[in-house]
Order: sequence, then C-alpha cells, then structure tokens
Amino acid sequence: MCGIIGYIGDKPVAPLIIDGLKKMEYRGYDSAGIALLTENDFIVHRAQGKIKVLEKLIADEKLSMTIGVGHTRWATHGVPSEENAHPHRDDKNKIVVVQNGIIENFLELKDKLRKLGHEFSSQTDTEVIPHLIAEYFEGDLPSAVRKAIRELKGAFALVVASWEDQRLVAVREGPPMIVGRAENSRDGIGSGTIAASDIAAILEHTRSVYFLDDGEMAVLDEDSIELTDFDGNAIEKEITKITWNPIQAQKDGYQHFMQKEIFQQPESLRDTIIGRFDLEAGEIILDELAPIEKENYSNFNHVLLTACGTAWHACLVGKYLIEKFSDLRVEVDYGSELRYRDPKIDERTLFISISQSGETADTLAANRTAKEKGGTLVSICNVVGSTITRESDAVIYTRCGPEIGVASTKAFTAQLAVLVLLALNIGRVTGKISKDKCREILQELIEIPQLVRRVLKQDADLKEFSKHYRDKQDFLYLGRGINYPIALEGALKLKEISYIHAEGYPAGEMKHGPIALISSEMPIMTLVTQNNVYEKTLSNLMEVKARDGEVIAIADEGDERIGEVADHVFHVPKVSEVLSPILLTIPLQLFAYHVAVHLGCDVDQPRNLAKSVTVE
Ligand code: G6P
Repeated sequence: MCGIIGYIGDKPVAPLIIDGLKKMEYRGYDSAGIALLTENDFIVHRAQGKIKVLEKLIADEKLSMTIGVGHTRWATHGVPSEENAHPHRDDKNKIVVVQNGIIENFLELKDKLRKLGHEFSSQTDTEVIPHLIAEYFEGDLPSAVRKAIRELKGAFALVVASWEDQRLVAVREGPPMIVGRAENSRDGIGSGTIAASDIAAILEHTRSVYFLDDGEMAVLDEDSIELTDFDGNAIEKEITKITWNPIQAQKDGYQHFMQKEIFQQPESLRDTIIGRFDLEAGEIILDELAPIEKENYSNFNHVLLTACGTAWHACLVGKYLIEKFSDLRVEVDYGSELRYRDPKIDERTLFISISQSGETADTLAANRTAKEKGGTLVSICNVVGSTITRESDAVIYTRCGPEIGVASTKAFTAQLAVLVLLALNIGRVTGKISKDKCREILQELIEIPQLVRRVLKQDADLKEFSKHYRDKQDFLYLGRGINYPIALEGALKLKEISYIHAEGYPAGEMKHGPIALISSEMPIMTLVTQNNVYEKTLSNLMEVKARDGEVIAIADEGDERIGEVADHVFHVPKVSEVLSPILLTIPLQLFAYHVAVHLGCDVDQPRNLAKSVTVE
C-alpha cells in the first residue's frame, strides 16, 4: 500500500514532500525516501523506519531543488531496509521512481534486464521499473514511461522523474493517483503541480484535483498538467472540488487519532444519517439508490455483502438487518475469499460492498467478480472518488470524514448506521415493514448520536478499569445474534492495537470448544442486551462462572440481573435490537484503546498493519 508523492514547483519542494508523506504515513511506515532533481543529477535520501527518521537525516542538508518525489513504504517485496526503500533508480542514474502496488512479472523483467547488462541493488519488485524506463529513455520521459508500462503486469501507481527531462510523470493502473495544481494556498508554498496517492497530501496546496483512472497518466510541468491514456492520446477530465478541511486531518487536542475518532462519533453519526429520512412519513431518503431502486428491488432475490477487516464485521450486522426487514436471502463473504471461489452471483444479486478507504484490493477484486457475473454493485464507502465508488452502480457514502487511525472506529459505526438505513429502505420499498415500524426505529436512530455521547462519558471509568487487564495474554469476546459481530469487532480492536490475543465467539458456541480454555487468567468480555437470546446468554455466562471465569459485561441500562453473573458491568442505553450494535461498540473501542495506551503501544500505527491494504 505505500504513499507516493511528486511535486514540481517554484520553491524548494523537500519540506512540502516531507509534509505530504507525513499525511500519508498511515499507508505504511516501514521506510521513507525522497529524490530531488538538480540540473544533472538526483539527490536521494532514504531511511528505514518512520518519516521522522528521514526528516532527521536531511535536516542539515541544503536542499533547494524545486522538483522531487517521495515515498512512505509498507513492505511487500523485500524486508524493510534502506536498500529496499524507495525512490529506486536505474544503475545509469537516468530515472527515479516511487511506486505503490505490485509488479507481478518483476522476476521475468529482472531476468531480461540483467541479460541487457542491468545491475540491481534491492530485493524489490519496484526496482525493475526505472531500469525498464531507462532502456527506452531517449530524452523524452513520457514516451519512455509509456513504452515501459506496456510490459508491466500487476497493479501500480507511479511517479517517475528524470533530471534530463525535468518533468514528472504520474501513472495509474490500480492504486489511487490524484493530481492537482498548487494554488499559492499558504505562505511560502508557491505555485506548481503535485501528484499523490491521497487527498490528505494535496489538500494544503489545492482543493481542485483530477482523480486518474486506470490506464491514465499525467505529465506534470511547473505550470501545466497534461492528461493522456497509455497510448499518449490526450484525455479530458473533470476537476473534482474537495471540501475536506485540513484541520479535520489533525489530532485536535487528542493524544491519538484513534482517540479523536472515537470521540468524534456523535458528530460523525449525525453526519451519516442527516437528511436521509423523512420521520413524519416513516420513509428513508437514499437518492443515491435511485439507479437501482427503479424496480423496487423486485429484480433481486439474493443479497451478497462483502468486505475485509472491520468492514466485514459491518457486513455481518448487515445480514441480520436485511434478513429482518426483507424476504431476501442474504450471504456474507470476505473479499479475499470470494474472489477465488465460484460465488453464485447473477443479475438477480444485489452485491453490497463495504469499505472505508474504497481502495482495499481484495474488496475491489470481489466487486469486479460480482460485476462480471451480472450482479448490481452498491458500495458503502467513506472516501469520495475512491476506486470502489467509481466502479459501483450506486454509492452510499458514510460521510464520517477522514479516518487516520489504522484501527477503524468511526467508519465502522457509520457503516452500521448506513446499513440500518439501507435495510429499512429495502423493507419499506418492498412493503415488508410498515411506516409506523420504520418511524419507530428512525425516532431512536435520531437519538443515537446523543446516546453515543452518553456512553463516551464512561471513558474515565474504562481507562481506570482497563489498567487491570494490560498483563493478560488472552481474551474471549462473546455475543449472540446481532451482537455476535460486535464481539468479533471488539476482539479485533484489542488484538490489532494492544497485541493481546483475543477471539470473538457466538456465546452459544462456547460449549463446543472455547469453554475448555476458561480459567481465571482469561477474561470474558460479553455483550448482553435484553433481546430474544438474553436468557440464553445469561445461561452461557453461568457456565463460565461455574468454571472460575472472570466475566465483564456490557449490558442494557436498567438490567439488574446481569450483576448476578458478571464480575464487572458497564451499561449502555437500552435501544431496539437493530441499533444496539452501535452503542455496544463504543465501550469496546475505549477498552481496547486504553489497554493499548497502558501498554505503551503505538495506537495509531500498530506494528505490521496499514490503514488501506491496496495489495493482495
Ligand atoms: C485494514 C485496516 C482495517 C480495515 C480493513 C478494510 O485491515 O487496518 O481497519 O477495516 O483494512 O479496509 P477498508 O478501507 O476497505 O474498510
């Protein structure tokens, strides 16, 4: 996944490239590097580790160059090291490249280039690219890039530079690539043009950008951007205006982005649901669905939800919701599994894809499979203009603002809220639920942001409480019915940021295996709301208690009985079953966050993870 940037301007670009890389550090932080162009050479600095290491390395250098590229890496081919860090150059020092993606035929190309006398210095797939471009380079960079990329197989976004040409070429064939013209937006920035993987890196310089599509490239000069296809034919594209505020991408007063994003949920949930229903009429307003709604969903007999990671947990909740409010058959699968099996998808399949970033490679591939088989693709996504959204028949944006923390929080609750609206919409359009029932749920949904705020008030208690669990090695999270996916999500949050082993299980399955693990050393986090499986969940907990297990429960306010079986209880306001997942998620996020902070973990950038997994 990696973040790449290129800048060509009228002032020194090194600080601007470093600044842009920092905004994309969530895409990977195994190493970072920068290459700057002089009149007859490249100045390249690379360092293993985070961008601050690179920043320190170049702090005393006099870097006045006005053209450069930068990279922050999430290692795929070759260990994190200085030699494998980008930018990569050819051995004749003609071409420099930063890449996000994977070149699948790099071994074959390396072999061919070696036979032509090229020498390689890294283990990466990327290094073949500058060598290949150099093979074709005769002074005109765009034409050499065009010839070389015809030979590349895989998914890649590139920024390429040559000191002999003094322009930049940005290419997209898979991962995202955005280009724009800097607008003198801040003192000292000056003008110029910029290309990057992410809007966050560009936002401070311009709000008017082009999203390149696959098979497109941009040639960047100091004051012009020329867009072409891979054959060199000029293309016209619409400029997209970005409305995100750069302040939104900062931490405000919080210690971590994750903490800020947990606390943003009252506002983000409000933004997600606002304007999307008519309470009085008991109807959902999702104009986004107009292209697929025309036949009132009667053309569908099957729903298939797909995603990866946290978004996959949202899919599981979505299954409960859609089954509850419609007669449709609903299935869920991981993107990474679906793409390699033979899923039964046809023109009667409503395929729902969920992704915060809109760039997850496995989800994207699953979507393409579904489309090829004739399915209708509706995506639920946060990032406007991302690849998944552009390939969908309809998009429902989660509208929760940029999510920077690698562990997803506010995007997840926004996905849950959208799924409630979508399921209600299907229910209303197909006549499966009444206006009164819809109105009743909407009335509660409106109150959810306020109720989330109330749950967040338990932060100090959860912080104190979580201290006692930092030394535990294992956790079990239990839930039943619609709360089971929330047990999975709670366990995922704990393991991804605190590195404590945690498993989520349906409480009823305990006796088929996990009960063998129960001891005073393995706390059980359990979700117990007063729904149709309440009594059964209490019985499951009795079984835990009988075996000396320690039970922590998240339960409805006013539930007196839970105190008889649980050792510790945290309460959330009692709401309809379909909305309980949103409220139950909040204490689990806070608990995982505080355990990780107590352990001194790098909460926003946990080891081995990346926010947006744009490779398989
Ligand atoms: C990574 C992130 C997760 C995220 C998953 C899917 O694993 O660390 O937080 O849930 O990718 O990402 P997406 O952007 O498709 O929701």
